[in-house]
Amino acid sequence: CGIVGYVGPDTGARPLDVVMEGLARLEYRGYDSAGVALVAGDKVFTQKRAGKLENLRSALEGESVPAAATAIGHTRWATHGGPTDENAHPHRGGRDGKLAVVHNGIVENFHALKQELLAQGVEFTSETDTEVAAQLLAAAFDESGDLTEAMRSVVNRLEGAFTLLAVHADAPDTVVAARRNSPLVVGLGEGENFLGSDVAAFIGYTKQAVELDQDQIVTITPSSHTVMNFDGTPAEGKPYEVTWDAAAAEKGGYDTFMEKEINDQPHAVGDTLLGRTDAEGRLVLDELRIDEDKLKQVDRITIVACGTAAYAGMVAKYAIEHWTRIPVEVSLAHEFRYCDPIVSERTLVVSISQSGETADTAMAVRHARSLGALTVSVCNTHGATIPRESDAVLYTHAGPEIAVASTKAFLAQITACYVLGLYLAQLRGQTYADDAKAVMAELHEVPAKIEALLGTMGRVEEIARFMADTRSVLFLGRNVGYPIAMEGALKLKELAYIHAEGFAAGELKHGPIALIEPGQPVFIVVPGPDTPNDLHKKVVSNIQEIRARGARTLVIAQEGDDEVLPFADEVIRVPHTSPLLQPLLTVVPLQVFALHLSTAKGLDVDQPRNLAKSVTVE
Ligand code: G6P
Repeated sequence: CGIVGYVGPDTGARPLDVVMEGLARLEYRGYDSAGVALVAGDKVFTQKRAGKLENLRSALEGESVPAAATAIGHTRWATHGGPTDENAHPHRGGRDGKLAVVHNGIVENFHALKQELLAQGVEFTSETDTEVAAQLLAAAFDESGDLTEAMRSVVNRLEGAFTLLAVHADAPDTVVAARRNSPLVVGLGEGENFLGSDVAAFIGYTKQAVELDQDQIVTITPSSHTVMNFDGTPAEGKPYEVTWDAAAAEKGGYDTFMEKEINDQPHAVGDTLLGRTDAEGRLVLDELRIDEDKLKQVDRITIVACGTAAYAGMVAKYAIEHWTRIPVEVSLAHEFRYCDPIVSERTLVVSISQSGETADTAMAVRHARSLGALTVSVCNTHGATIPRESDAVLYTHAGPEIAVASTKAFLAQITACYVLGLYLAQLRGQTYADDAKAVMAELHEVPAKIEALLGTMGRVEEIARFMADTRSVLFLGRNVGYPIAMEGALKLKELAYIHAEGFAAGELKHGPIALIEPGQPVFIVVPGPDTPNDLHKKVVSNIQEIRARGARTLVIAQEGDDEVLPFADEVIRVPHTSPLLQPLLTVVPLQVFALHLSTAKGLDVDQPRNLAKSVTVE
C-alpha cells in the first residue's frame, strides 16, 4: 500500500493536491482502492473509492471539499477484506468519527482485538484489520486527549507489520505516524511537513527526508517533527537528502522495477508468512473458508498454473508430497484444460497466479470446478477473476509486481504453497505435522537469509556483464533444484532473449549432455550436502561429467560446501537452509544474472519484447 501525510500552514487546496499527487506517485504500490482524510475545522472529512485513483478523483470532483491544512491519503493493495468502498482507507474511529487512520501492513492479532471491541459495543463498518486500530486509537485519544500518546499506547498492543498514520479533528495541525517492519519516511518542507511510504510520496515538494528506525512514532506539525520509540523514550530520525528524481523514486532508487522487486523479496516472503500462525506456532488459515472435513478428505492435488507460477507449483509438489503424503501433480493450465483430467470431489485443484487474470489458468479452474473439484487459488491480486471464481483463496503478500518477468511473486507463491502444504499436513495429523512448527520457524528465518544473499550479488553481476555475448546457457538442478533450473532458464529467455534450457541433472546423460562443447556455460543448482539420498554427491558427479567435456561450470552451492570447489569455474554461495526450502534462496542469483545480462545487452528489463504481464487471452 502507499501512504501520504501532510501538514501545512494554509487551509487552501494545497493539502489535498499534495496528497493526491503523492498517491499518484505511489500508485505502483497498490491500486485497488484509494482514499483521503482532511481535518477541516472540528470535523474530519473522508472520501474513498474502490478501484484506481481516478475513481477517487472523480468522487472528489463531485462534491465540495472543505478547506484543510492537514491531510492523509492511501492507495491500497488489499490484504484483509476485498477491494470495496467500505474496506478502502481511511477508516474512522470513535462514535463521532473524529479520528481517521490509514494503514499499510497486517495487524496479526486483529481478530482478538476486534472481539474485545465488539464486546464493548463498538460497531464496525468494514472487514479490515485497520478499523480495529482506528477504534483503539479513538478510545485512547478520548482518554489522554493527545494523539501521540494515543498512538504510543495502541502500537504496543498491535502485532505484525504496520505503518499507521492518524489524524484527529481535535488535534488539527498534527499527523501522527508509527512504523513497525513497514516503510515510513518523513519529508521536511518550509513551514510544512510530509510523510510517505517512500520518498516518491513527496519528492515533488522536498528532497530533505528523515529516516526512521523500526518501532518508532513520529509526530509532524507545520513547523516540527518529533520522533519517539514505542516505549516512549525520545529518539532522533536520520536526516538525508534524496538524490533521485521522481521517476527513480517510484523504483526506490533502483534503475528498474525488476531490480527493486528482486530486492523486495525478503518482504514478499516475510509478509506472506505473516498472520498465518497462532501463538503456539500452529498454522491458522481461517481465510481459506473451506470446511475442514472436506480438506481432510482430499486424496489428490493438482496444481495448475503457467510460466513462472507453474515452476512455483513444481517446487510445491516436492514439499507438499513430502509433508502430507498426498499425491501432487503439476499441470500447465492450458494442458490441463484440454486433456481428460482425473478429478473427483476429493481432488484439490490449486491454481497459482500472480495476476489472478491469466486466461489459461482461469479456464483450467472453471473446468476443474465443473468436474466437481475443490479449488483453491494462490494469488497476489485481491478480488481478481481466479480467486473470485475459486472455492477459496490464499493470498500471497508480495505487493504489486510491475516488471513483466516475475520475481518476488514467485518467492511468495512458493512460500504460500509451503504454508498450504504444512496446513494440510497439520489437518491430517500426519507424523510430519509435528514438523510443521519447525519448518515454519525455519521459514521465518528465510527473509533475513535472502537479504544477506542479496548483499553478495556483486560477482554474479560481473559474470553477467562478461557474458553479454553468450548465445546459449544451460541450467541443471535436481529435486527442488530442477524447477529452479527451469525458472533460471525462463528468466534468461524472457529478459535477455538467449537460448536457455533447464534440465533435471539426472537426465543429462540421457541426451542433453550431447549439447556440451568447450566453453558452454552451465549453471548447476547444487542441493545442500544434507539433502537425503546422497543427492548432493550425485549432482557433484554431474558437474564433473560436464566439466570433463569442456563446460564452463557456474555452481550455486551452499556456504561451506567445499566438495564442489575442484569442479567449479565459479561458485556462487547461498546461505544454509533445509533442503525443501532451498529454492527461496537458489533462485535469487539466477534472477540477478538474467537482470544484469539483459541490462548489459541494453534491453528493456521491465517490459521485454512480445510478453505481457498478464495474458488474458487463451
Ligand atoms: C505471463 C508472464 C509470466 C507469468 C505468467 C503467469 O506469461 O509473462 O511472467 O509467469 O504470465 O502469470 P500469472 O499472473 O498467472 O502468475
